[in-house]
Amino acid sequence: MKLVAVVVLLVTLLQQGRGNSLDSCQGRCGYGTDSSFTCQCNQYCERYNDCCSDYEAICKAGSTSCKGRCGEKYNSQNKCHCNSKCSQYNNCCSDYADLCDSKGSGSGMITDAEIKALSETLYVLDSNKASASELIVEPQALVPDSETGSQSDLSPRLLFRYLNENVLFARPTYAALLALLDNYNRMTGQTEDFSPQQLAEQDTFLTETMSNTELGRELFAFLYTKGVYPSENAFLQDLKMMWFGLYSRNNNKMDSSGFEHIFAGEIKGGKVSGFHNWIQFYLLEKRERLNYYSHSFDGPWTSYPDVLGMQFMWDGYYKQVGSAIIGCSPEFDFALYSLCYIARPGKQCRLSLGGKELLIQTYTWNNSSYGDGKKFIGSAFPSTPRN
Ligand SMILES: *[C@@H]1O[C@H](CO)[C@@H](O)[C@H](O)[C@H]1NC(C)=O
Ligand SMILES: *[C@@H]1O[C@H](CO)[C@@H](O)[C@H](O)[C@H]1NC(C)=O
Repeated sequence: MKLVAVVVLLVTLLQQGRGNSLDSCQGRCGYGTDSSFTCQCNQYCERYNDCCSDYEAICKAGSTSCKGRCGEKYNSQNKCHCNSKCSQYNNCCSDYADLCDSKGSGSGMITDAEIKALSETLYVLDSNKASASELIVEPQALVPDSETGSQSDLSPRLLFRYLNENVLFARPTYAALLALLDNYNRMTGQTEDFSPQQLAEQDTFLTETMSNTELGRELFAFLYTKGVYPSENAFLQDLKMMWFGLYSRNNNKMDSSGFEHIFAGEIKGGKVSGFHNWIQFYLLEKRERLNYYSHSFDGPWTSYPDVLGMQFMWDGYYKQVGSAIIGCSPEFDFALYSLCYIARPGKQCRLSLGGKELLIQTYTWNNSSYGDGKKFIGSAFPSTPRN
């Protein structure tokens, strides 16, 4: 599938090239006659018979769409508009946000439609997810959002009834995640420090998930074609800082990172903070250190991955709504959160998985930074009501 990434790259480059070509109406609808182009894109071209071949499609049929028109200069001849000022003047075409609007900061132009298309591709590429025979979950009690704070154990049995560890945990990306999960002290306010071996486990996780899977390579190919990263090495280095760089949540101690918060979970202010990974949940439940109480959200998917919003007690500390994607591979979790953080930092990110929408909320960590003022991941999780 390396070939797929290369083909995607070439097609993208070709399309970008075509955008500037002299015989197209891309970005030129309604403009005056310009002899430096081989054809024209305004009402007169119809009379003089020198319209570009895509004039009909882009400027006439598409006159109420931003297809092929993102960033086009304002022209009163057009019915609606597709540049950054149109929101202010309230005259954008209805598909402007989907096709053109880049809400992310510092990430070039990544549109909502592109994020959805990529997440569908990653969904299909998640060959390491659990199958229905490898994982059985039993969600039991469903509580309304208004009762997630009641701290009552309404589910007598385990959430994770069965997992085929022999098959799944033998896979390199699962093994790499397991190696990392026990490197952290869950209490905030206490310094994290890592042995050389533990630091190497961070690199192994990045290599296994992002370089050694089709899914990871697909994410990189996308970000590369969007100009976010100039090389795979730059991509991996940035992920390493973004996810594993330490910062202080409490007591001025270097006690936290995006990875610890999101995948391993932490304790802050007498409560569970973060904790959005199903494998960590499974491991702690199996060791009888975590007691599943109920769930307040169950996603619309009927196979893995699915999404749950869970209430649970972790060694004496309560989590009111801990949402997680259930049954996906470690690389899938990591790729979706990374994509959303890179493309829509601090915002809701709209993904599409098997035709159903998943919202991921990310937060930037604002109190310290790395590199050229870049922000660490503060949090990322499936956005369900009331978390
Ligand atoms: C973040 O920085 C602000 C201002 O310096 C400080 O008041 C706040 O306590 C810091 N928050 C954390 C979690 O360290
Ligand atoms: C961090 O900064 C961003 C952008 O400046 C802001 O939107 C966000 O609310 C801040 N987050 C927190 C937790 O203060």
